Amino acid sequence: MKISIATVFPDLYREFLGTSLIKRSYEKEIASYDVVSFSSFCQPKERLDGPTVGHGSGMAIRPEVIQRMVEAQEEKHGKAYRIFVTPQGKKLDQRLVARLADTFLKAEHILLVAGRYEGCDDRAQKEYADLEVSIGDYVLMGGDLPVMVLLEAVMRYIPGVVAKKDSVEKDSFTNCFIDFPTYTTPPREWHGQVIPEVLLSGNHAAMDTFRTEVAAQKSVKEHFQWVRSYCADKKNRALAFRYMPSHYVVLMHDQVIVQESTVGTSSVTSLDIHDIARSCKTYGVKGYTLVTPLIDQRKIAETILDFWHGAGISYNRNRSEAVDLVSIKQSLDQVIAEIELKEGKKPLLIATSAKNQGNLSRSITYFDQTEVWAHDRPVLFVLGTAKGLCDELIARCDYLLLPIEGFTDFNHLSVRSAAAVILDRWMGINLLQVD
Ligand SMILES: C[S@@+](CC[C@H](N)C(=O)[O-])C[C@H]1O[C@@H](n2cnc3c(N)ncnc32)[C@H](O)[C@@H]1O
Repeated sequence: MKISIATVFPDLYREFLGTSLIKRSYEKEIASYDVVSFSSFCQPKERLDGPTVGHGSGMAIRPEVIQRMVEAQEEKHGKAYRIFVTPQGKKLDQRLVARLADTFLKAEHILLVAGRYEGCDDRAQKEYADLEVSIGDYVLMGGDLPVMVLLEAVMRYIPGVVAKKDSVEKDSFTNCFIDFPTYTTPPREWHGQVIPEVLLSGNHAAMDTFRTEVAAQKSVKEHFQWVRSYCADKKNRALAFRYMPSHYVVLMHDQVIVQESTVGTSSVTSLDIHDIARSCKTYGVKGYTLVTPLIDQRKIAETILDFWHGAGISYNRNRSEAVDLVSIKQSLDQVIAEIELKEGKKPLLIATSAKNQGNLSRSITYFDQTEVWAHDRPVLFVLGTAKGLCDELIARCDYLLLPIEGFTDFNHLSVRSAAAVILDRWMGINLLQVD
């Protein structure tokens, strides 16, 4: 496999290509590298870069120089699969790396183009790039580190480059869990930390189970966005779910803002009972409680639940199954006490609101699972009815979720819809790719 690299600074590659596994790849004649300088495609006194058009100063690599470079490299090594590295390209992750390894193996010639300054002239990039790749949402001074990152990641997949194929296939991000922790021995104990006994037992099945469990647990706690973007099969979903803390939902018909901004109670509704119960069931919520201090309101809610536990079963079995999660309580304190009894720990309270509530409670986003789950406590989402939870109740909560918003000024969702959106954003599967 021939790999051409076009750059403004070819010297940067000398050490890189002469070291470790990349060096091994050409020593073993798996790949050979041809690093070329853009300047070698310029006529005498011609510059490789030119000023960018429009106000706002900057320079970019000129299209004619790129054209000459592409034509010369393809003349030398054959038609290439051309990759331009740019912060605006497709984000590199292990899935893309695996796909690129396939491309590298099939293509006779790979051309990697490292930009500099403001990048490459857009017309040339459009004309020649088969793929634009970014190594992350930040901007470097040039494309040479991205080219090296891409090569280090992809070449590990090329047979013969890494001695143990097994170690590549089990690496972090090759499936929905990260790699398990590694230890060396000796020493068995270091700074008071010991290697888990099972790893020294010689029992391979027990070791595999232990490693899978540890990897799943760590992945859920620290890389949940990856897990949810990758977890396609039922077995891994069940494993991941085991390590997510228990979640509960409470719908407050008390301590909510009612007419003229006073704090009061609201009425229960049939739809909020079974619709929110169905969302809770979908996302694995352990219990959904309605809170109302009013006896009559509790009676109405109980009548609705009785229906779903009786005649409702034959009317709609799924709905009835979801409604099994529902209970009715007089106060939020009772809900908290019941969860504590069941889980052995007080739940963390996450308030929800349609408005930005400033400093009433610590705000979190839908990407803060790691922070919340690090407490190792059950999680209770507190949903409001009427005009939302009162300030006192929000201030009592440990966290406040950012409001759900679209790209409009309207965000008056029904609490049923809000519950579904919140649960999905917080703990829904969100596959990035279908394999
Ligand atoms: C200063 S950057 C140009 C940034 C460009 N003006 C922009 O805002 O998208 C110069 C070159 O560095 C490389 N580069 C910088 N950050 C990168 C990233 N995150 N991923 C891939 N390449 C990057 C690209 O080759 C790019 O052409």
